[in-house]
Amino acid sequence: MDVLKIREQLPVCQQMTYMNTGWSGPSPATVVNAIKERLDLEMNQGPTSSEVYLSGRDIQTKTREAMAALINASIDEVCVTRNTTEGLNIVMNGLSWEEGDEIITCDLEHTSVLVPSYYQQHRHGAVVKVLQFDPNENRESVLEKISGAITDRTKLVFLSHVEYSTGLRIPVKEIRQLTKDRGILLLLDGAQSAGHIALDMKNLDCDFYSIPGQKWLLGPEGVGALFIRQDLIAQVQPTFVAGRSSLTPGNPYGFEPAVETMDKFLLTSTSVALQAGTLEAVKFITDVGVASIEDRDLDLSTIMKQALINVPGVNVLSPLDRQDSTGLVSITVDGMTPEEVVGRLWQDHRIVCRQVSFPPGVRISLHFFNTEEEVEQLVEVVKGLV
Ligand SMILES: Cc1ncc(COP(=O)(O)O)c(C=O)c1O
Repeated sequence: MDVLKIREQLPVCQQMTYMNTGWSGPSPATVVNAIKERLDLEMNQGPTSSEVYLSGRDIQTKTREAMAALINASIDEVCVTRNTTEGLNIVMNGLSWEEGDEIITCDLEHTSVLVPSYYQQHRHGAVVKVLQFDPNENRESVLEKISGAITDRTKLVFLSHVEYSTGLRIPVKEIRQLTKDRGILLLLDGAQSAGHIALDMKNLDCDFYSIPGQKWLLGPEGVGALFIRQDLIAQVQPTFVAGRSSLTPGNPYGFEPAVETMDKFLLTSTSVALQAGTLEAVKFITDVGVASIEDRDLDLSTIMKQALINVPGVNVLSPLDRQDSTGLVSITVDGMTPEEVVGRLWQDHRIVCRQVSFPPGVRISLHFFNTEEEVEQLVEVVKGLV
């Protein structure tokens, strides 16, 4: 991987040390140019003139195909969304819930997992079981805790594939082995995984998976994708509906709902320009290769964790075992709040990262465009803060 050449295509790398991809990734110039070109075309030629309209339809189809290919799913199992959270809500609000149905999740989760779960508790009397995970829990104990929480009322296991707070990578295939034969559904939040680790829906064999375009894929904010396994699409009722949710859309006297198609989740107008940018982003990432990106991100985070683990006054919250790790590293610095550390890193050194609230820490996102020198710089700065 030619990291220096890649950095030339990412304008942010000339401005600062960007270590916050887990919140929102910096786009390559090609992505932003594709968005501008599309907006220019719509401005100059009119958004609904025949050629512009047809090319817009083509971009939407290609975006759906690109997202499906990225996660090795069939195009019929994928729809384009606005972000991860929309996809998660489509599933959570589309399943039918009965009082006493149990949802298993964990305390490291993002609000986009916890809040939609609690809403099913609030509305339907579902029971949310929040497992306590150590920030650096290993895969054996993750499996043990999930296995111990399963009962014959468990309807859903709902977790992030990569925990946003510490970068813990959840052992999905093994969880699947625990759930599949018992008829328990598996919904995964892929906010921190798409473009970061290689994804293969056929191999993971999960039921539902939702991803964003704007984080590790380096696309614009406003586009994501949802995967639903083919045989489950009919079980998920659309919450918002329009023409594509009907098999007889223009008929004022009869109505037949669309049941088997992901199109039923799509509403009306959307931003073709943002999808054009996402298409370029997926191309950029795919050209570099997600498998090589996954390895490089792990190498960078290993270097950082090894360098910080023995520094007195610094606590590494993220897992150390490579198989449980990703490019996210969370730390605390004794005597300083995470907000203070994040503020000092930016104000004094132009290093961008973020604080996370549970467990409280400073989260550093390391993606393939970051360099070993940048990792070393952060380590030295943190040592200086101590
Ligand atoms: C685990 C997790 N889920 C959901 C989200 C929200 O992502 P989106 O804006 O794509 O809905 C984030 C964003 O930080 C996240 O880390």
